[in-house]
Amino acid sequence: MQSALIASPLNYTGGKFKLLPQILPFFPKRINTFIDLFCGGCNVGLNVESTKTIYNDTNSQLVNLCRFFKNIDGREAIRGIYDIISKYELSIVSKYGYAFYNCDSSKGLGEYNKSRFLKLRQDFNATKPTAADYYLLFYVMIVYAFNNQIRFNSNGDFNLPVGKRDFNAKMEQKLLNFIDKLQKQNNEFLCLDFRNFDIKSLQKDDFVYVDPPYLITCATYNENGGWTKQDEKDLLAFLDELDRAKIKFALSNVLTDKGKTNGILNSWLKNRHYNIHHLNYKYSNSNYQIKNRISLSDEVLVVNY
Ligand SMILES: C[S@@+](CC[C@H](N)C(=O)[O-])C[C@H]1O[C@@H](n2cnc3c(N)ncnc32)[C@H](O)[C@@H]1O
Repeated sequence: MQSALIASPLNYTGGKFKLLPQILPFFPKRINTFIDLFCGGCNVGLNVESTKTIYNDTNSQLVNLCRFFKNIDGREAIRGIYDIISKYELSIVSKYGYAFYNCDSSKGLGEYNKSRFLKLRQDFNATKPTAADYYLLFYVMIVYAFNNQIRFNSNGDFNLPVGKRDFNAKMEQKLLNFIDKLQKQNNEFLCLDFRNFDIKSLQKDDFVYVDPPYLITCATYNENGGWTKQDEKDLLAFLDELDRAKIKFALSNVLTDKGKTNGILNSWLKNRHYNIHHLNYKYSNSNYQIKNRISLSDEVLVVNY
């Protein structure tokens, strides 16, 4: 039986945590090596039972942050995070409440944290990745950044503005669970473009999960041509190659979203024998406008078994 699900402490955009109860039952029962080929916040790989897990993503900062968490003592990481929060005098609303910071829950903490966050960002951008505190500074910055996202400019500087929220006990627990799981699991982190992943190293009972940026929706990682039609076509060809090599795969994607259709994916599917599972993504949020928008989205899991 699946134990309690572990959520990524990165609140990753496009993260599949909420979809796991619908996705995992479609995965093969026996998995030797599980490849989370577009791992992002690692939400999927953390919750799949396998002999070995390979996490891969092209975002080297993200991959190195995960490698850092795999090798640090959890309590030490939490102490380091609170040291940074206190050094930069960032908010901890769960401890002092919104009134203490002259803010409220709907507006969030951006106004209070802005100048403090910018100082942290400036210091982080001036810190070398080899410095002992580099990855903890990076993590705190993500937590206090806009929508917890990761974005660097072409000079390699983190350039997102301050966000509305801060670090709290729930995130602390998520981070501890994440570190614990990464350390207990037999895993490895790679930083490859999916086209460079060596299919020949795979064997029967290995399983590749593919969760690329969606061609027809927006996220920081597919801004400015981050994910193109050519990428989409190359990925679909890569999946056909896996199929020819008799390696099982599952692909997450959306076929339609807010009136847009992914034509490339749609026509590819029409000429294949793959199985399409239509997922039913409901938010617990009762806002009817959100429900309306979601109902226009056809989120699918495509499998070749
Ligand atoms: C939808 S997110 C994955 C979310 C993840 N499944 C989760 O639950 O947290 C897509 C990821 O693909 C990565 N990516 C983009 N282009 C890539 C490429 N060519 N090869 C491998 N990874 C890529 C992005 O950096 C991003 O982290």
